[in-house]
Amino acid sequence: MSTASQKRQPADWRADFPILKQEINGRKLAYLDSAASAQKPQVVLDAMTHAMNDHYANIHRGLYHFSQQTTTAFERARAKLAAFINADGEREIVFTRNATEAINLVAQSWARQNLEKGDEVILSEMEHHANFVPWHMLQNEIGFTIKYIPVHDDGTLDMDRFRSMLRPETKLISVVHVSNALGTKNDVKTLTHIAKDFYPEMTVMIDGSQAAVHGAVDVQDIGADFYCFTGHKLYGPTGVGVLWGRYDLLDQMPPYQGGGDMIETVAFDGVSFKPAPARFEAGTPAFVEAIALGTAIDYMTDIGMENIAAHEQALLAYATPKIKAVDGLILHGDNNNKCGILSFTLDWGHPSDVSMILDQCGVAVRSGHHCCMPLMSILGVDATIRASFGLYTNTDDIDALIAGLKKAKDLLG
Ligand code: ALA
Repeated sequence: MSTASQKRQPADWRADFPILKQEINGRKLAYLDSAASAQKPQVVLDAMTHAMNDHYANIHRGLYHFSQQTTTAFERARAKLAAFINADGEREIVFTRNATEAINLVAQSWARQNLEKGDEVILSEMEHHANFVPWHMLQNEIGFTIKYIPVHDDGTLDMDRFRSMLRPETKLISVVHVSNALGTKNDVKTLTHIAKDFYPEMTVMIDGSQAAVHGAVDVQDIGADFYCFTGHKLYGPTGVGVLWGRYDLLDQMPPYQGGGDMIETVAFDGVSFKPAPARFEAGTPAFVEAIALGTAIDYMTDIGMENIAAHEQALLAYATPKIKAVDGLILHGDNNNKCGILSFTLDWGHPSDVSMILDQCGVAVRSGHHCCMPLMSILGVDATIRASFGLYTNTDDIDALIAGLKKAKDLLG
């Protein structure tokens, strides 16, 4: 498969996604909302069908053939995810429902055990609500302080301010790798090094929800303690995500949820727990989805993360000047270190109105606050229009967006 697929070009990749053959409102679909959720290639759809049609049974519980086969496929998916981000073994991979649950796991388990009144937590102004709300909920209970790394006008993080924010009281830094609302790719390796140079025991968590799909991630190279992402943005199914954690940390953390499959023994007078990662996977997990996520990882790896990144950068180079040339358009996050996300407002139309006109033209974009209301307040807007790319995006999609914006201007401007 590898030799054949290495010869395949981005134009061929699109054909792997059956949904993209559809027309919307009589127009060829230009799907530009991959940051919200990526479409699924046929191999992922087939993997789900295969797991349910051919060897479906619950995992870790049955000694019969199908249960063993499904358990093996599930654990193989864990190993694929470990290799995908260069974890130090599959025991560092915890399956969660999504990135949100992964962050909540760290908040409810690690942070409850390690944070106390008077401590400081550093987030950034560009965090998704998933890396914002869990800390606020806990802050009220524990009494720590939350500080925010400011965002420059060009949508990059103010690293000088970050340096000056570090104090002996700082215990945790939790920052997004790629902003879902701006596309900015944060230098999380440098950020982690700054934090660990200040205080080696500082804990650093990276929300990689928008990063893992756009290029290779190496958690050991970044040097952080936790990293998380979600399956549905990686061309995989919904309902499955990943928390990576350094094993020495996971090993010390208490369970977050209790139930079946995470225990060693249960008696009337006490319970003992399995080691990580099983300790954090209470109940029947989304094993069909995890297996199919493993297939999505194979699919991306086979194309090559460097090829996916290069394709998206070429599209960004094609799209950015065209979008900036649209009359009355303000591009938010106008910098040179971005993934395939363009977020903008227009001085002649509200994002909701414009995106509905774009839909009439077959162009699917997201308009709104993108679960980043604090960032929107910094930008001075209530919403932006966001066009986001996947590996199947092509220049026709960009051209359809630009033509749709011209039509919207004619109607609203
Ligand atoms: N977090 C997703 C987005 O950025 C839903 O749209």
